[in-house]
Amino acid sequence: MIASTIQLLLLALCAGFARAVPTIEIKGSDFINSATGDRFQLLGVAYQPGGSSGFDPASGLDPLSDGDVCLRDAALMQRLGVNAIRVYNLDPDLNHDMCASIFNAVGIYMLIDVNSPLVGQSIDRGAPWTTYDSSYLNRTFAVVEAFKNYPNTLLFFAGNEVINDDPSGKIVPPYMRAVTRDLKNYIKNHATRTIPVGYSAADVRDILLDTWNYLQCTTTGDDSDMSRVDLFALNSYSWCGDSSFTTSGYDKLVANFSSTSVPVFFSEYGCNVPAPRVFTEVPVLYGPQMTPVLSGGMVYEYSEEASDYGLVNLNSNGSAQCLPDYDTLQKQFASLNVTALQGLPAQNTSIKPPTCSESIITGSSFNSNFTIPDVPPGAQALIDKGISPAPVGKLVSVTNTKVTQVVQASNGQVIHGLSITPLANDESNTPRPQSLVSSSSSSSSPTSTTSSATAAATTNSKKSAAAGVQRNWGSLAIAGIAAVSWFSLV
Ligand SMILES: *[C@@H]1O[C@H](CO)[C@@H](O)[C@H](O)[C@H]1NC(C)=O
Ligand SMILES: *[C@@H]1O[C@H](CO)[C@@H](O)[C@H](O)[C@H]1NC(C)=O
Ligand SMILES: *[C@@H]1O[C@H](CO)[C@@H](O)[C@H](O)[C@H]1NC(C)=O
Ligand SMILES: *[C@@H]1O[C@H](CO)[C@@H](O)[C@H](O)[C@H]1NC(C)=O
Ligand SMILES: *[C@@H]1O[C@H](CO)[C@@H](O)[C@H](O)[C@H]1NC(C)=O
Ligand SMILES: *[C@@H]1O[C@H](CO)[C@@H](O)[C@H](O)[C@H]1NC(C)=O
Repeated sequence: MIASTIQLLLLALCAGFARAVPTIEIKGSDFINSATGDRFQLLGVAYQPGGSSGFDPASGLDPLSDGDVCLRDAALMQRLGVNAIRVYNLDPDLNHDMCASIFNAVGIYMLIDVNSPLVGQSIDRGAPWTTYDSSYLNRTFAVVEAFKNYPNTLLFFAGNEVINDDPSGKIVPPYMRAVTRDLKNYIKNHATRTIPVGYSAADVRDILLDTWNYLQCTTTGDDSDMSRVDLFALNSYSWCGDSSFTTSGYDKLVANFSSTSVPVFFSEYGCNVPAPRVFTEVPVLYGPQMTPVLSGGMVYEYSEEASDYGLVNLNSNGSAQCLPDYDTLQKQFASLNVTALQGLPAQNTSIKPPTCSESIITGSSFNSNFTIPDVPPGAQALIDKGISPAPVGKLVSVTNTKVTQVVQASNGQVIHGLSITPLANDESNTPRPQSLVSSSSSSSSPTSTTSSATAAATTNSKKSAAAGVQRNWGSLAIAGIAAVSWFSLV
């Protein structure tokens, strides 16, 4: 009797650690956590180890294909406090199951670009009609197939900065709506949930708002228009050094986007001149001036590359070292009240998109023709029947939680016992209180997933009681206390 009760309890605990993030949905201009109904703010980093030019499918590798690398990076990101990564260049035919499952286990969502810089894998901004064909669409649909089954796939970007100046603003916009339409119809026909599709814009102020209006407007009077984006993001580098809400121009962004009918966020941010970065935009981005309109952002970028935006230096032998910017960003994230931030009530959920018409476009040369290209020859069959062969992704169990590579803190000290801490079901990662961040490097590393979560929960229950904060660690702590007291009763 007692034995079977223990078994039931263990089963219940294991079920509790099924570790799927809650899916994120879009209502009006908000991201919504489907488990709580609250608004969701992105606290993310761009993740493109090797850089944009490093993408080479012939290598058999992309940023989400090596589980050991993802485990190392997920552990560092979990400590950093992020809840999302943006991944740009992916080969849909590689196996991403382990990486996706690791990020899912630690409560980190994935924002997936469907394009790559390779020929035939993106829209040419100088001559979009030469690249919008069924072979190109087949590639974008393959990325959807590869990632549609993971619960932590948050959205797809149909394009990144394809419109970046006056000439591209004149010819590209109808193609961006066409690609958006095709992706949304493909997802509707072939995915079991609605995965949002959006656009990541260059922050070129002359064309930014026209791009947003062109892409968010409706030709059908409501949000049933499949060619309108579900969200709009911009790559923002206007806050440099210890700037301010007004000096950075963030005030204008908030004013200009306040009527948005779709979520708006920074798909990249983190100006790196002057260096080192102080990340004082973080408390403003997640503060009361910005959160009524924006939904957070993604810091550019996790890995140190030639452009010098990195938070972590990755070596080819697998070792890694945090850079001083990592510590600074970690402190800024840790200063946020995440309980308040992720508990914001949904708002503006019934906001109506503007009607597509010439009057919503202000630039004289920006495209204001809302007749978009037809689906190219051969592509409707793909949208209707699905591509073949289609890659299939699925969550796998994450049994190894311990990072094996040598990882150093920014001061050169080796971080011993670095591991991921799988979260309970329906949790996403949050910044940890500083007390946990500094002490976790010395804690012993668990050997199995279940005991790891329980052990971590127990440890955290003590530490967070002292720190007195954080929803995630709090609810894990409750599971830990329940398990501990039950076994001491027995
Ligand atoms: C479509 O994509 C799949 C998956 O990447 C690939 O195997 C197939 O060859 C592609 N088909 C065409 C016609 O490009
Ligand atoms: C954007 O906001 C600023 C500040 O409120 C305003 O001056 C400007 O006219 C706005 N631009 C557009 C196109 O609405
Ligand atoms: C949502 O509504 C609030 C309150 O009416 C307003 O202050 C805010 O600017 C709106 N946000 C968006 C994105 O429309
Ligand atoms: C890995 O490479 C780095 C940078 O070249 C070097 O400092 C380090 O000693 C190497 N580590 C191992 C374990 O080989
Ligand atoms: C964080 O926000 C919550 C909810 O608004 C509030 O109850 C709590 O006191 C805040 N914590 C701190 C440390 O300010
Ligand atoms: C709008 O674009 C369509 C498709 O390219 C074209 O047939 C039509 O003439 C354009 N309308 C105007 C007013 O330029």
